[in-house]
Amino acid sequence: MAKCAFLGLGVMGHPMAGHLVAAGHEVRVWNRTKLKALNWSETYKGKAFDSIDGCVDGADFVFLCVGQDKDVFDVMEFVLVAAKPDAIIIDHTTASSKCAQECYAKAAERKLEFIDAPISGGEAGAVNGQLSIMCGGNKDAFEKAMPVMSAYAKAMTLIGPSGSGQMAKMINQICIAGVLQGLSEGVHFATEMGLDMETVLKAIGKGAAQSWQMDNRAITMSRDEFDFGFAVDWMRKDLGIVLETASENNIDLPLVQDVQSRYKVVQEMGGGRWDTSSLIKALKD
Ligand SMILES: NC(=O)c1ccc[n+]([C@@H]2O[C@H](COP(=O)([O-])OP(=O)(O)OC[C@H]3O[C@@H](n4cnc5c(N)ncnc54)[C@H](OP(=O)(O)O)[C@@H]3O)[C@@H](O)[C@H]2O)c1
Repeated sequence: MAKCAFLGLGVMGHPMAGHLVAAGHEVRVWNRTKLKALNWSETYKGKAFDSIDGCVDGADFVFLCVGQDKDVFDVMEFVLVAAKPDAIIIDHTTASSKCAQECYAKAAERKLEFIDAPISGGEAGAVNGQLSIMCGGNKDAFEKAMPVMSAYAKAMTLIGPSGSGQMAKMINQICIAGVLQGLSEGVHFATEMGLDMETVLKAIGKGAAQSWQMDNRAITMSRDEFDFGFAVDWMRKDLGIVLETASENNIDLPLVQDVQSRYKVVQEMGGGRWDTSSLIKALKD
């Protein structure tokens, strides 16, 4: 069983660190807001630390699950100094590919491994230990990390070298953006035409239009319920990374651009923490 340090106990990190304990690993945790780490250690058999240095000291695996690029850099500054030689750093944050490559290079200077390992599956996937993880980094490090990450994952794939896990996550978000805009227009159209959404879904939900979003979000969208799930603020951050990367590489993504501006409208309505299915609000209001 491995010695694990988990940094960042938000919506995703809290249950993920808990699964590591359940799998029998020795788990130490740290969170910027101390109270969350203390609450975690009251629920799970693991120790909360006041400092990143103390938490990471002696760990075989160091997990990060924070917000965005700047947060990863903030935390890595301490991890790079405190981690023991040969430790494997696994970053579950959705960040840019450049951020991953920079962290990988700095880690390599200290003979540490760094795997970019963004996740998909939402809060439910983290709570149920059913996440999909797309990884970038060295094969040996990935193979050592796999049995540990399997505590909370149903699928783990090495996409390629450092940064390519974050690239795969960008593709994931591009596909979700398109599906959600289509679903928003479908639900909006059904409502305007006076059709009952549950009946419509019985007819189309097992056909070619089916999607995870349709199965899990169409009904709540038709009921105007968005107080759960994956936050619009995070999606705006993810699509911002996608659009910046696309622009640097002269790739045209008209639909992502349109969806990004629609999420801005939702944020302006006060929906920053609403689920991403609230994209429909940019049509309705
Ligand atoms: N929620 C989802 O459904 C979902 C799904 C897939 C991927 N993701 C990605 O997973 C990551 C975490 O998401 P989440 O939903 O768990 O977010 P969250 O609930 O907002 O938690 C964010 C965590 O990052 C910490 N943090 C932020 N900035 C920091 C900094 N500068 N230094 C140290 N710690 C910092 C926060 O600490 P404090 O407690 O002190 O604020 C908190 O522990 C994000 O990159 C997100 O895009 C989320």
